[in-house]
Amino acid sequence: MTTIPNSDAQVPDRVAIVTGGGSGMGAATSRLLARNGARVLVADLNAEQGSAVVDEIVADGGQAAFTRVDVSNEDDVAGMVATAVEKWGRLDWAVNNAALPPDSAPIVDLDIATFDRIVAVNLRAVALCLKHELRQMVTQRSGSIVNLGSVSSVKARAHNSAYVATKHGVVGLTKTAALEHGRDQIRVNAVLPGGIDTPMIRAVREASGVTPPDEFGLSLFGRLGTPEEVAEACLWLCTDRSSYVTGHSLAVDAGFLAR
Ligand SMILES: NC(=O)c1ccc[n+]([C@@H]2O[C@H](COP(=O)([O-])OP(=O)(O)OC[C@H]3O[C@@H](n4cnc5c(N)ncnc54)[C@H](O)[C@@H]3O)[C@@H](O)[C@H]2O)c1
Repeated sequence: MTTIPNSDAQVPDRVAIVTGGGSGMGAATSRLLARNGARVLVADLNAEQGSAVVDEIVADGGQAAFTRVDVSNEDDVAGMVATAVEKWGRLDWAVNNAALPPDSAPIVDLDIATFDRIVAVNLRAVALCLKHELRQMVTQRSGSIVNLGSVSSVKARAHNSAYVATKHGVVGLTKTAALEHGRDQIRVNAVLPGGIDTPMIRAVREASGVTPPDEFGLSLFGRLGTPEEVAEACLWLCTDRSSYVTGHSLAVDAGFLAR
């Protein structure tokens, strides 16, 4: 009989990091991983929101802690992984979810400072997180990482050049990390959300004046997704229920990419 490596049954108390865990899909994923028995390090730039998510998890009987991190800063990222390991002894799951909202100008009017900031947080930071998370997971010869891409990882959207380029890059990083660490029994996958009702999409709506009918065009169901619907996909990819899945990009988009 084949032994499935990295079996959750062997280590019930998984240790997880969720970047951007203070809001939207990161908060929903933190709550869901904790409800499924993981000890969760909620990592976010926003201490107030991140701590509030930890308080909710603890009040619900789960285990969680907050760490303030700017994912674009390598010392912060190294410290984030070290904090999880010092606190709980290992790192089983990482959900690299923190990101800045899309830019909103055509390329001919590119503001390169905005472009650089989005690259730093949405792409370079994912590389930094992978580097430090993988180093720990290699010592364990186990682990599962989920990177948050977007339908913008596959399709372009006018006036979102930095966001689209970084989200395409997240899929490239995901596949490369999966190739490099399959033999270490570490899986690396991406989740590509469609339009999800979070503070990020609300900020985009306010900045662009996009009206609800346009938004509904993002999905075949005529509604935005919920953060919890994306969290379910992150949980599945973290756990050994997806033990033969790596290097994959899973769209959670109500069929947007099917068109
Ligand atoms: N909302 C959508 O419709 C949508 C669609 C596709 C993809 N996504 C992606 O899903 C992920 C989650 O999006 P969301 O809508 O939940 O976002 P959100 O804006 O609700 O939350 C993002 C979180 O990231 C944190 N963050 C931002 N910069 C950071 C930094 N430098 N260091 C640490 N934390 C930082 C913020 O404080 C916030 O808590 C992102 O990767 C986003 O690009 C969102």
